[in-house]
Amino acid sequence: MELANTAEGERPSRTIQVGVVSKEARGGETATCEQATNRGSWAPPRLQAPAPSLRKRPLEPIRSFGHLRARSRPMLEVMDMLQRFAQTDVTVAFFGETGAGKDVIAHVLHEQSARADGPFVVFDCGAVAANLAESELLGHERGAFTGAVSAHAGAFERAHGGTLFLDEVGELPLDLQPRLLRALESRKVRRVGGKTERHIDVRVVAASNRDLRADVSAGKFREDLFFRLAVAVISVPPLRERLDDLPELVRGLLNDLGRKDLQVNDATHAALKAHPWPGNVRELKNVLACAVAFVDPGTNALEPHHLKLLRPANDEESWLEGLPLGGQALERIERVAIRQTMAQTDGNKMNAARALGIAVSTLYEKLKRYGL
Ligand SMILES: Nc1ncnc2c1ncn2[C@@H]1O[C@H](COP(=O)(O)OP(=O)(O)O)[C@@H](O)[C@H]1O
Ligand SMILES: [Mg+2]
Repeated sequence: MELANTAEGERPSRTIQVGVVSKEARGGETATCEQATNRGSWAPPRLQAPAPSLRKRPLEPIRSFGHLRARSRPMLEVMDMLQRFAQTDVTVAFFGETGAGKDVIAHVLHEQSARADGPFVVFDCGAVAANLAESELLGHERGAFTGAVSAHAGAFERAHGGTLFLDEVGELPLDLQPRLLRALESRKVRRVGGKTERHIDVRVVAASNRDLRADVSAGKFREDLFFRLAVAVISVPPLRERLDDLPELVRGLLNDLGRKDLQVNDATHAALKAHPWPGNVRELKNVLACAVAFVDPGTNALEPHHLKLLRPANDEESWLEGLPLGGQALERIERVAIRQTMAQTDGNKMNAARALGIAVSTLYEKLKRYGL
């Protein structure tokens, strides 16, 4: 069985510790948290074009929180909120595009909180099969169902004393949502097939790349659960809206790649800045990992031609424009795209879902719906 949903969160190896938060400081959920969030709008802030007078504003100084470093205004705002929320046990929901850094930031929140010495357990709601989700989340007793040969502690229990990170929470099956809500409200869980309830001391954080409000309106996500999770909301901005962070991110990622020595010249910075980064920091990380392979041995200059950027800047849809798609039912286009992707990945659903930019559980649904 895949244990992807129970794995420790991915984290950059750099560790620049800043003792911003007192380990003793731990409070309850407070009314001020709601004021400090942009709760009404789930989406990453859409920044308006800066006024001409601001365009040449001096760069913000670089600031750090845990191993996060940033200088762009949207990220500095995120770090400010993180710093406040790290001192409380408030439930935080992170929204933002895939690859923007939600996992990384959720981990930093844990590391800088009073729970840092406790576990950080990731439950990836999109990577667990619907029929196993309940026992993976809440655990099961021996013999609870066919195949339950031994008792199993769920993610909630394993997170006792620490933080439970519900990743891609929008993918959680609808029928499991009331049970999650009950566990969140009571901080007690009963394993599948179990008789007793266990008290769990856990801080919950969640993340989603979906518009959960739209899912609530469409009846795909329970409204009560949405409000239970989105007590404090942090919108993680896409990389294209925080280009001022690029030099620092590039430095850190090259360092992680063991190429601290590489010099990034102005032309390379300009090429990086011009790219739209649909895959956000994950894409940047991949581009740099590939680029270092092209640097000539014996030299230490990262040149623009080393960057294998997948699409020309601001031209990400031009190849699609050439196709006669007008008037085609969207479902037909989707069906063909899924069939072709499954063929390209030799039927590997994990890889196909990644290429299509959807969760595996969503891919399963679509394969079933389209009879593929
Ligand atoms: N601030 C950052 N510094 C270094 N690496 C980062 C940062 N943000 C994201 N990454 C890297 O980018 C990739 C995607 O980040 P992740 O947190 O998984 O994004 P998301 O959960 O929003 O899809 C990961 O490999 C992560 O290590
Ligand atoms: Mg993630």
